[in-house]
Amino acid sequence: MSEIERLYAERIASGALREDPAQKAILPEFERIRAALAQPVKRGLFRRAPEPPKGLYLWGGVGRGKSMLMDLFVASLHGIPVRRVHFHAFMQEIHAGLHKARQANIEDALAPVAAEVARTVRLLAFDEMQITDITDAMLVGRLFESLFAGGVTVVTTSNRHPDELYKNGLNRQLFLPFIQLIKERMDVRELVSPNDHRQGRLQGMEVYFTPIGPASRAAVDSVWRDLTGGPAEPLTLVVNKREVVLPAFRNGVARATFYELCGKPLGPADYLAIAQAVRVLVLDDIPRLSRSNFNEAKRFVTLIDALYEAKVRLIASAAAVPDMLYVEGEGTFEFARTASRLMEMQGADWGADD
Ligand SMILES: Nc1ncnc2c1ncn2[C@@H]1O[C@H](COP(=O)(O)OP(=O)(O)OP(=O)(O)O)[C@@H](O)[C@H]1O
Ligand SMILES: [Mg+2]
Repeated sequence: MSEIERLYAERIASGALREDPAQKAILPEFERIRAALAQPVKRGLFRRAPEPPKGLYLWGGVGRGKSMLMDLFVASLHGIPVRRVHFHAFMQEIHAGLHKARQANIEDALAPVAAEVARTVRLLAFDEMQITDITDAMLVGRLFESLFAGGVTVVTTSNRHPDELYKNGLNRQLFLPFIQLIKERMDVRELVSPNDHRQGRLQGMEVYFTPIGPASRAAVDSVWRDLTGGPAEPLTLVVNKREVVLPAFRNGVARATFYELCGKPLGPADYLAIAQAVRVLVLDDIPRLSRSNFNEAKRFVTLIDALYEAKVRLIASAAAVPDMLYVEGEGTFEFARTASRLMEMQGADWGADD
């Protein structure tokens, strides 16, 4: 049994995971990559970097377990230099690196930036590859060429087949060589499980905790740990050239306090971007709302509308049940819809594919 199969079996035995044949079928792909990377690298003055093993592009519907499998893979590597990073966060680092290199008047800014990545890792494990931005679309081809040339293997998760990446994007024909490159350098596999395990986990789980206090905090912490299964990092979204920071993010789940999202001057575009970027939002400490925090309340309504439309699951701790959150002052009437949506979003099946 390979290491990743052992880890998978261990989690089934402990009850942390349920048996899923579609997931099991992917394990040998990861093991192939691990075994190839475990071969010692012969380095010499005149030796070219060894051809890296073919990577893996694992795609499929939400909650199928792609990120979880990639995490197991990373855990199975024992000492092989790997970096697991959210694709979007990685691209932001690359842009920052390019910016610095250009300021230093380096002609081909991409070369040193890609070389620095290739120097430190043999494997890049990207979570949630998607390309929506034209700047990224025009950059990834050359970036990945350089990474592959530097001996890096890439594995990634995505919700789309490579052919569907940057679909209908501006200048898409310039993007097509990147799709070709992915197909050459990565095995493209779909995780075809019928199970949305995220939905499965949330089903029947309490998702709205009141009042605010140590008990709610502990309950929310426990749901958060259960859904993320690893260390979170901040995720920065760029909306109309401004940065909106989600303080903690992992595997499609973001966590923030009410104040962090509704206490700052964010607007509808920001909340839409957040709703597009996450599958589950864990929102701590929703206070009672009234005339005195009218702006916060208004933003909260906009946030909930955006989450609702995008079918994002909400886990929250709040000072009161939805109906009692906003009981006096201007806006109580409009808030009735928000309260109703908050109730509906607690339903066991809410947000499931239909
Ligand atoms: N076999 C399983 N048994 C139980 N829970 C599972 C199983 N596989 C995955 N999960 C859990 O289901 C949730 C969703 O899994 P994961 O985040 O890996 O899905 P995903 O395919 O990456 O989804 P997305 O496309 O939304 O990123 C996670 O909390 C994960 O731990
Ligand atoms: Mg995922």
